[in-house]
Amino acid sequence: MISREPSSSRRRFLRTVLVAPIVLASGAWFRWLDGLAAAGSLAAASAPGGARRVAPTPDCGDDDEPTPAETEGPFFKPRSPQRRSLLEPGISGTKIVLEGRVFSRGCRPIAGALLDFWHADDSGHYDNAGFKLRGHQFADAAGRYRLETIVPGLYPGRTRHIHVKVQAPHGRVLTTQLYFPGEPRNHEDELFRSDLLLSVRSAPAAKQVRFHFVLDVD
Ligand SMILES: [Fe+2]
Repeated sequence: MISREPSSSRRRFLRTVLVAPIVLASGAWFRWLDGLAAAGSLAAASAPGGARRVAPTPDCGDDDEPTPAETEGPFFKPRSPQRRSLLEPGISGTKIVLEGRVFSRGCRPIAGALLDFWHADDSGHYDNAGFKLRGHQFADAAGRYRLETIVPGLYPGRTRHIHVKVQAPHGRVLTTQLYFPGEPRNHEDELFRSDLLLSVRSAPAAKQVRFHFVLDVD
């Protein structure tokens, strides 16, 4: 059982009043933006003065709401290779490590949950002929997963995102998408949801981002 701090009431307070200014003022936030801008991955950074109120990425059991589903989109391919790193020769872009856990609504870690990731390359293209930047893995006994990949590129009509399918053993498949904070196109993309934003963490070798999934199982 993981900590449920901060409390639900505390989270609700943060959601409605203080979240965006706190996030924008954090050192991690600026390191993240600096890193992406240096790598040419962001056309422009959002100005703190233009902050909008957004909901925080929910933690396990936040309001007992499961992670919301989103459309699969046109580029999913079944039978991706099993791997925890999508990095391979010929892949360029800003490296990131995405990690987190898979929980039930009651915060029970879901051991063996299947996570199947796919996303665009640094130029905004999907590999529809092969399996570049596609891969699946299984959560460990504590529901943990870890994926090494790159920051996806932009393509027309969409903000930056990572697709994923998550499934508890013998459970229903959750299909959704994860989003990056501070993206200028986030609020122009009708599929964008602030409760699917990645949390940014810092690390010396690679950008670290985090997302905990909550599946609609007891
Ligand atoms: Fe996509």
